[in-house]
Amino acid sequence: MNDESREYISDSIRTIPDFPKKGITFHDVTSLLLDPKAFQLSVDDFAARYKNQKIDVVAGFEARGFIFGAPLALQLKCAFVPLRKPGKLPGETIGASYQLEYGEDRIEMHLGHVKEGQRVLLIDDLIATGGTLAAGIKLMKQVKAEIVECACVIELPDLHGKAKLGGLPLYVQVQKE
Ligand code: PRP
Repeated sequence: MNDESREYISDSIRTIPDFPKKGITFHDVTSLLLDPKAFQLSVDDFAARYKNQKIDVVAGFEARGFIFGAPLALQLKCAFVPLRKPGKLPGETIGASYQLEYGEDRIEMHLGHVKEGQRVLLIDDLIATGGTLAAGIKLMKQVKAEIVECACVIELPDLHGKAKLGGLPLYVQVQKE
């Protein structure tokens, strides 16, 4: 992606101060979604990057990973698998837990929807501490899938999330403070 497109995407993401709590700046992709040019630039950039990578499954994290992952899977003509918060999926699931600042969270996916040896792209709107993506990696390792890359629209590099990915490659479109 060229610098101009990168800047266009970056500018389309508004920031909300003190959300969800005081002192946190929230990078809100709902403003990007209002602009079809920005949304298209983002999804097309991911599609161009992965179109020759023989991706079998795009796995997107609840909730905003679904928004970018689903159109990407259509462009790549591959499966889309949602990685969900606990208790949301109706079929038999497997899960992976991860640490939060206080306590623990967990993501789940349907058993059998990602198979051994499949080439998986993990996608989310944003990587902060990296806990969410790390749990996705754990999940894919449990089913012996091959993780091609982790992809996000936004990275907050100050939080060093990339270090939690066990050396797997991370592709991001924009970085924010
Ligand atoms: C946000 C974001 C990522 C995750 C990144 O989701 O959309 O999924 O946090 O944070 P991390 O790198 O520190 O794990 P959130 O937890 O707000 O859930 P939601 O999308 O369901 O609102």
